[in-house]
Amino acid sequence: MDERVKRLFPITTTWQPTVQFAGHDVAALARRYGTPLYLYDQATMDDAVATYRHAFHLFYPGQSHLAYAAKAYLSTAIVQWANAKGLELDVVSLWELQIALHAGFPAPRIHFHGNNKTDEELQAALAASVGQIVCDNENELRRLAHFAAGQGRCQPIWLRLTPDVDVHTHEYRRTGRRDSKFGFGWPEAERALAFLSKTEQLRLVGLHMHLGSQIFTAEPYAVASQRILRWAGEHDIWPETFSPGGGWGVPYTPSDPGGDIGEMVQAIAAAVTAESERWQRQVPALLLEPGRSLVGRAGVAVYRVGQRKAVPGVRTWLTVDGGMGDNLRPALYGSRYYALLLDQGGHIADKRPAETVQVVGPYCESGDFLIKRIKLPQARRDDLLLMPVSGAYHLSMSSNYNMHPRPAVLWLQRGRVTLVQRRETLADLKRRDAPWPEEG
Ligand SMILES: Cc1ncc(COP(=O)(O)O)c(C=O)c1O
Repeated sequence: MDERVKRLFPITTTWQPTVQFAGHDVAALARRYGTPLYLYDQATMDDAVATYRHAFHLFYPGQSHLAYAAKAYLSTAIVQWANAKGLELDVVSLWELQIALHAGFPAPRIHFHGNNKTDEELQAALAASVGQIVCDNENELRRLAHFAAGQGRCQPIWLRLTPDVDVHTHEYRRTGRRDSKFGFGWPEAERALAFLSKTEQLRLVGLHMHLGSQIFTAEPYAVASQRILRWAGEHDIWPETFSPGGGWGVPYTPSDPGGDIGEMVQAIAAAVTAESERWQRQVPALLLEPGRSLVGRAGVAVYRVGQRKAVPGVRTWLTVDGGMGDNLRPALYGSRYYALLLDQGGHIADKRPAETVQVVGPYCESGDFLIKRIKLPQARRDDLLLMPVSGAYHLSMSSNYNMHPRPAVLWLQRGRVTLVQRRETLADLKRRDAPWPEEG
């Protein structure tokens, strides 16, 4: 298999005679658990964690921490995996927080984010004693100080700053510019410091930024890190922890850039170290909070081929049994994907003549496509279509559009398959509904 394709699939993939992940035959899993089916290969996630930690070890002279941004994909199993690996956890809503706590994740290793935290969320985060609340705006600071006083607590916080640094990624994934709904711009940050100097309920222990997502160049991280620490130096508020967020990119197609984690960590480490020296301060603890680059490659979506429609001279549509309900990214961002076609027995179907198709789903939208244009072997009904790099921002953004149930999720370890999320049932879909109250 071509190396540029291999790097899209889990590290445990074997290709012959049938495609297997961690020794598990994909076609057999699809027959047993049905499709659409999501597979998570733990070894690939473990490997990503090890890559980050190795880069910290190589390049950063101070303490370092790795957090998992739960929004990429949250379930009880993945929270428990993150805990077992000693990761910290970034949550962004009351419900993410509650799932994490329910799964047994220790509150002191949780960071609570969000640009519109409700009173209920702030109080719940305080009551749970989460490690840090990442404050986003002045109104939130005031409310948090009030609630902390009510609970007799002094809450450690970070400030999320908007460094006004742009990155090359989709418009919807840029968050570091002045024109962003997230975080404190410089003038607001000045006022936040003035407020914090007068309150005993909040203790500023960290500075945070997040530039966006699916970023492949390290330079903006270095520039923004430097900007934030220069500001800290100028205001004499050197942080115990500095977090440049997450956002590092992963390849989705063979032609995408690689996304070398070491390159990004090295650039950040150099900027933070240089700025610490300039202000004659100890290097802060460095905390990265990736989502996609920890779990994206570990996930594979498995679809079953259905209808094939060819309009000569126009296009051929290949319909599979999933689409925008489990993967909104192509419709939302125009994201591009790669796919591999297997016959029903799980063999790569590369002996058949190839054709160019658009891979679409069963949802009632012309925007319901998974891949706009890809050359695949001629597909037959009931073949399997594997879409790699499906581990991040698929299931966490999934919906019940057209009342499709959300897919089952299997956790793969060598010698063990665990159903960590069962497929939704009709009972799940009906659970919230009450009967019509009739006229009048
Ligand atoms: C504050 C914050 N941190 C981390 C992440 C994770 O980003 P990624 O999955 O691209 O690494 C996000 C994603 O949007 C985020 O908003």
